[in-house]
Amino acid sequence: MLVLGIETSCDETALSLVEDGQKVLAVQVASSLKQHQRYGGVVPEIASRAHVELFTYECEALLLAAGVDPSAIDRIAVTQGPGLPGSLMVGVTAAKALALAWEKPIVGVNHLQAHLYAALMEGPSGSLEVPMIGLVISGGHTALVRMRGLREIRLMGQTRDDAVGEAFDKAAKLLGLSFPGGPEIERRAAGGNPKAFQFTIPKIKSGSPYDFSFSGIKTAVLHKVRAHDLELSPEFTADLSASFQASVVEELVMKSVAACRAHRVGRLIVGGGVIANGFLRERLRSVCADLRIQVAIPSLGLCTDNGAMVAGLGFHLNPTDPGELTVVPDLRVELN
Ligand code: KG4
Ligand code: ZN
Repeated sequence: MLVLGIETSCDETALSLVEDGQKVLAVQVASSLKQHQRYGGVVPEIASRAHVELFTYECEALLLAAGVDPSAIDRIAVTQGPGLPGSLMVGVTAAKALALAWEKPIVGVNHLQAHLYAALMEGPSGSLEVPMIGLVISGGHTALVRMRGLREIRLMGQTRDDAVGEAFDKAAKLLGLSFPGGPEIERRAAGGNPKAFQFTIPKIKSGSPYDFSFSGIKTAVLHKVRAHDLELSPEFTADLSASFQASVVEELVMKSVAACRAHRVGRLIVGGGVIANGFLRERLRSVCADLRIQVAIPSLGLCTDNGAMVAGLGFHLNPTDPGELTVVPDLRVELN
């Protein structure tokens, strides 16, 4: 079955054609990132306008690249949430228009579940039903879930304040680095000493032991920057980036493996833009190997927002009545 996946929840206008939930025939990703950079974060109005301007071109380019005629498409899958309302609206409206014009079934996809599915897309098919712990780490969300199959998802913990990607972006901003900050911090950290600064992430005292909190470490970065009243040198930036990255990565790795061990689950899957971080990928693989936990991480192209994960997950879901498909900007990870 050939599925067209459409993803417009934030600043990427991303489309992809995927066969049977796994075989990626073509991808197309355009981003309005450059237009947001001078503001230090995504401006919703600019993002939705860019989706409108880019969509038709991106869709035509995708079909051309894959050498696919619309008649060969079996289904259209589109992100319905969570995300920026205006941006989601453009994708969902475009998907409905195409479904109507081409007479195709349509299916709404949960963006966070699609990030998790990205970790499974490249593995053996048929491996979806085993119990798993899932970690979603993106610019807007941080959550740990227990799952069996794609329909049975239970929330174990989530961030109480900033999402982990947001923490990277804010720390980068304090260091004068450009948006999005995750890749910038990773680049600087490569030349820094992770032990140069001590950052402690406080233990969560009430609620779920699998909840996260990243606002404290962001404030600690602010204090270090303020205390350093000289101009920020490349060495200082590198050391601070390395120390920040090491603390955040340790928190993510330790909570995820603790969840696996507490629930006797031997499989961990991770999705979302932050899993593009090479230091995190390496640390997770090494800790999981030691503990005999099988870990699935998407290849780099499937980490940040993309249409392939949406098409991939859309293959497994049931189509809906186009009239009932709406955007759900605050859709939760465990809901379908
Ligand atoms: O999943 P994503 O593309 O969009 C959302 O759904 O939010 O994630 C974007 C986030 C941004 O906060 C970005 O800074 C972060 O992922 N990110 C990274 C890296 N690449 C992207 N964070 C740390 N290290 C990276 N290499
Ligand atoms: Zn995302």
